[in-house]
Amino acid sequence: MTDALTCDIVRNWICKTAEVMAENRAYLTELDSAIGDADHGNNMDRGYKAVIEKLPDGDDVGALLKAVSMALISKVGGAAGPLYGTMFLQASKPLMGKSEIGFDELAQFFDDAVAGVKMRGKADVGMKTMLDALVPAAEAFRAAGSVSDGLEAAVVAAEKGMKDTIPMIATKGRASYLGERSRDHQDPGATSSYLIIKALRDAASEAA
Ligand SMILES: Nc1ncnc2c1ncn2[C@@H]1O[C@H](COP(=O)(O)OP(=O)(O)OP(=O)(O)O)[C@@H](O)[C@H]1O
Ligand SMILES: [Mg+2]
Repeated sequence: MTDALTCDIVRNWICKTAEVMAENRAYLTELDSAIGDADHGNNMDRGYKAVIEKLPDGDDVGALLKAVSMALISKVGGAAGPLYGTMFLQASKPLMGKSEIGFDELAQFFDDAVAGVKMRGKADVGMKTMLDALVPAAEAFRAAGSVSDGLEAAVVAAEKGMKDTIPMIATKGRASYLGERSRDHQDPGATSSYLIIKALRDAASEAA
């Protein structure tokens, strides 16, 4: 696997994510029907279809990720649009004008992504949200010390974090209205976050 993410890899990541959201639309919606309002798969699929239409040409990683943010904010309703939109907006800022990003920049990207979601959602780990996948992934990436090892570790951590939401009781978002009844269901947002991180690993490993 590569040790720097070029603009082509980032573009491929975004395209792969759009494919994965289309493939998992019914699955994410089914998860959201158990503890939410059965729209998460539709939201993410609609959002990423809009992302693909709005992707700019050129060789600027930050501009690509900012375009993801703008499309998600404008096309995805509900909680996930503003949350993922803020996540990509925050994380894109230090990457504006860069045609390639290495380990330090990607570690910062993960940290900024987490900070963006925390800021927008006023949530933290253990509340049965996307942060339960994103926070362990960001920590695992930084601890690994290289892009290739970091992305493998981030996927493993995100998958574990996603599964760890199953026994949790939701204390943020729509699922929190269910209280105890939110237990024993996997959080849809943690699942889409895992899919986004896995798509990044897959795009990077294809470029090896
Ligand atoms: N405050 C929050 N912080 C972080 N993540 C959150 C928060 N609230 C909800 N989420 C995440 O959003 C996911 C739900 O996204 P979805 O697209 O279904 O929006 P929604 O909850 O239906 O929004 P709305 O209730 O406004 O329609 C949850 O599974 C959870 O992971
Ligand atoms: Mg929903």
